[in-house]
Amino acid sequence: MKGIIFAFLLSVHFSYGEIYRLNVTEYLRMPPLYHLDDYDSCVYQPNGTYCYVDIDLVSDSPNDLLLMIREYSEHNIKHFNHTRLHRGVCLTKTCQQYLHGNNTVDQRLTVEKCLNDSFWKDYKLKTRLNREVSCKKLHEPMNINVGDILAAVFFTFLILINFIGSLYDLFFVKDGKGNKLLLSFSLKRNWKKLLAQDQDPNRESLQGFHGIRTLMVMGVIVTHAPVMLVMSTENPYELEQTYYDIWFHVIYNGCILVQTFFVMAGCLMAFNIKVYAEKHQLHWTLIPKGILFRWLRLTPANAVVLIFTLTWIRFVASGPLWETLVGAEVKDCHRNGWMNMIYLNNYVDNSQCMAQTWYLASDMQLYTMGLFACILAKTARSRKIVLSILFVIGVIIPGIFTYLKDLDAFIFLTPEAARNFLVTYPTFNESKRGHTNIPAYVIGLALGNFIYNGLKDESRVKNFKKLGYLYYLTVPMVLAYILSGFVFYQDRPKFSIYLRAIVASFVRPVFDLLLAVFFIGMVFKYENLYRRILEWRGWRVPARVSYSAYIIHVPIIRIFGGMNSQLLRMGLPQCIKEGVVMVSFAFLAAYPFWLFVEAPLNQAVFHIMGFIKEEKKQDEAQKMNSVNQTDEKTVIELDNRNKGENIRI
Ligand SMILES: *[C@@H]1O[C@H](CO)[C@@H](O)[C@H](O)[C@H]1NC(C)=O
Ligand SMILES: *[C@@H]1O[C@H](CO)[C@@H](O)[C@H](O)[C@H]1NC(C)=O
Ligand SMILES: *[C@@H]1O[C@H](CO)[C@@H](O)[C@H](O)[C@H]1NC(C)=O
Ligand SMILES: *[C@@H]1O[C@H](CO)[C@@H](O)[C@H](O)[C@H]1NC(C)=O
Repeated sequence: MKGIIFAFLLSVHFSYGEIYRLNVTEYLRMPPLYHLDDYDSCVYQPNGTYCYVDIDLVSDSPNDLLLMIREYSEHNIKHFNHTRLHRGVCLTKTCQQYLHGNNTVDQRLTVEKCLNDSFWKDYKLKTRLNREVSCKKLHEPMNINVGDILAAVFFTFLILINFIGSLYDLFFVKDGKGNKLLLSFSLKRNWKKLLAQDQDPNRESLQGFHGIRTLMVMGVIVTHAPVMLVMSTENPYELEQTYYDIWFHVIYNGCILVQTFFVMAGCLMAFNIKVYAEKHQLHWTLIPKGILFRWLRLTPANAVVLIFTLTWIRFVASGPLWETLVGAEVKDCHRNGWMNMIYLNNYVDNSQCMAQTWYLASDMQLYTMGLFACILAKTARSRKIVLSILFVIGVIIPGIFTYLKDLDAFIFLTPEAARNFLVTYPTFNESKRGHTNIPAYVIGLALGNFIYNGLKDESRVKNFKKLGYLYYLTVPMVLAYILSGFVFYQDRPKFSIYLRAIVASFVRPVFDLLLAVFFIGMVFKYENLYRRILEWRGWRVPARVSYSAYIIHVPIIRIFGGMNSQLLRMGLPQCIKEGVVMVSFAFLAAYPFWLFVEAPLNQAVFHIMGFIKEEKKQDEAQKMNSVNQTDEKTVIELDNRNKGENIRI
């Protein structure tokens, strides 16, 4: 049997004509993937013009080198597509003889001709531009349009009102009474809120979630930082070699960790609904209300980042890669940024517009599903049935899509996917949908119910205690599970579509179950190692700003990447450096962003909507903390109008 499979694999191998490895000598026959002419010396010339282009290698006649490049690129799981190159060209220097002293020529034609000739000379290959050419001079007039001006007015207003609100609180407010709307913008109060303790005894056992959330957001940033830098890799050969190193697969297969957010979100929702149901009827009106609350809580901060991306980010800096890293996102946001505001952006493909927020959209859709499931299925029995059905559907869906669309088994962070920021990678596009993440959320919901019941009555969970040391094994198991994705990166053709479909169906649910076991161990204190780390009080404050950090980290990474005027040597040291720097920047920026944007806007919106009621005899800071709970991006409050009491769902 093994022999047959092997023979089959070999035959597939030969028909594909993939080249898995090239020695360095052969590798260097290929034109370099990236090259940048010196930027500064170019644009500081009189009239200096610098162009950045994407080119495809082509040939009219059969060409030995091009064939090798194509066959090498065919193994796209570990290799770049070496027929697609990027060049930063100093038009006025490198292509000088094509200008004939005429500076108003068609830049596209000139660049194309210039590159055509140089590739012909060096490699006997021709080139074709595959995108518009973006050319830049140093002193180009800033194209400020009406949108930019409106955005500037808005940002100025935001700063001013924070200033006014803070002064108002300091000098005019006595005994904590005053205009609530203006007080939303008081820095003093928001600072207190940022540092406030969690008051809710119900959630004492869930406080490890703060640690998990913070660490996960840091993990996301650490992975995104090098992805953006793939566009400026000096040593693609070494980068491709890292795929043979199993430890790098923590990053390459790490996308699955995002499932943690979904499991946590489902868990908190189910748990909070249980708490709420202790004292209230679960009426169906909670569903639209819940969705509205959630939308109001996520959107202000998200919208501010979107507005910035649509307008002023263009002018922050410049560099050879600026158009690719920043300009492309701006363009995509102009095209379909509005989808981000209704949280359907995870159904838009090939858009770089705040691509990291696919998670928010997916989470919003699952949240809606979860509200329906938890509120309409009132009895424990009906809830079990509903969740089981959803789970089965959720497991089947990814398999079907993988089969129909011939996708990969899970998201591989391949060099080519990274070069396109993943947005053109079909497997990623399918994985970011709401409907392909159902199992994680459902497991989260079940877990939330389980935790609630277990905390009420320990005897219901006593069987779980017997697992003992297994809880300590969860973290090594998670690591091993992620690393095991390594087997998919072998030098061999793709696995059969059936195997891929099955893996696609089960890879995430199994991981989610592992996470659920981990959470059980933590919440019920069956293990004391990870729990101690995650329940550390120091996580609370960064967890509160983690939503801010999450939405602003990509603009930050893009800006820094776009400012690079040279290629970088990618490797472990560089990745660590970029990761640490970007995490620090994102969180450093997240604190002011939270204080001046997220927290005040949230409160203001809730005041305007009239969702916040007066509550007497309650300390102001504590009240605001319970009223506008911003430390869980997955949690929103529902306000019970009868009692003026707030609960979070
Ligand atoms: C690389 O491979 C080519 C062709 O297979 C061979 O001719 C050459 O000697 C090799 N070079 C090295 C340094 O191994
Ligand atoms: C590589 O890129 C070229 C042009 O951009 C494309 O035609 C080709 O299909 C790509 N190859 C692979 C293996 O994706
Ligand atoms: C420069 O090139 C443009 C476009 O090719 C042409 O219209 C123009 O006449 C040229 N000017 C000179 C001085 O050659
Ligand atoms: C460059 O080569 C390609 C492929 O042969 C050709 O289509 C294109 O017209 C050439 N461009 C110029 C400016 O010569």
